[in-house]
Amino acid sequence: MSTNTKKLLVAGNWKMNNSLDEAVSLIQNINSTIDSNPDVLQKADFLICPSYVHLAPVAQIVDGGSVTLGAQDCSFDDNGAHTGDVSVQMLKDLGCEMVIVGHSERRHNCGEGSDVVAQKAMKAHKDGLIAIICVGETLEQRESGNAFSVVLEQLEVSIPKSATVENMVIAYEPVWAIGTGKVASSEDVKVMHETIAHYLKEKLDMGGAIRILYGGSVKPENANDLSCIEHVDGFLIGGASLKADSFVGIAQNI
Ligand code: 13P
Repeated sequence: MSTNTKKLLVAGNWKMNNSLDEAVSLIQNINSTIDSNPDVLQKADFLICPSYVHLAPVAQIVDGGSVTLGAQDCSFDDNGAHTGDVSVQMLKDLGCEMVIVGHSERRHNCGEGSDVVAQKAMKAHKDGLIAIICVGETLEQRESGNAFSVVLEQLEVSIPKSATVENMVIAYEPVWAIGTGKVASSEDVKVMHETIAHYLKEKLDMGGAIRILYGGSVKPENANDLSCIEHVDGFLIGGASLKADSFVGIAQNI
């Protein structure tokens, strides 16, 4: 999947959910829902990111269809003594085209800093995967007036020199909006996405063409309003990506 298109990207982050059977039937249902509503493909590209252990069986069903396969994370190294890690090359072997890096759950639960995120994104770029680099502030950071400085610093350190218009997507996910049902207000999303777009343009000469996704309690009911905001080029979706109707419904409602 190319990134330098402004078709919306509807990306599902399945996180640590689903049994094997559930993962297989979810992708089958997503495929059949898209097949019965082919107009959604004019509006959006679809990506799903199952857990590592479900990538291989899901890849067989994704193969040749309209959904792209991605992973939720990758190692910062090519190979070696990294117990529990999975390399970009391993993900590529399974058919992944994209990989999420720097999700706030990894930043906070696993102590990953932006420097590690940059290393992971660089590995993705080296092996030909598109890196979805996540940024976002906590509620405390927002309430203390630091949302913009936090996000700008995360961008500054997390984006490696290898980044291009072709190999990078940014996802803005305010931590307080993830899984809480609290969506950021249109004004908050507008101003933050403008800030990110401006940063990419000024600092990296990459404005305009890079997709900037919004993530945090996105569902079919709020997708249209969010998609009308300038510089919102798609969504990174958790909970609502776990049901075919709501996942595809997000694109249908745009
Ligand atoms: P929810 O859509 O469940 O809020 O999760 C968002 C997210 O973290 C996607 O990466």
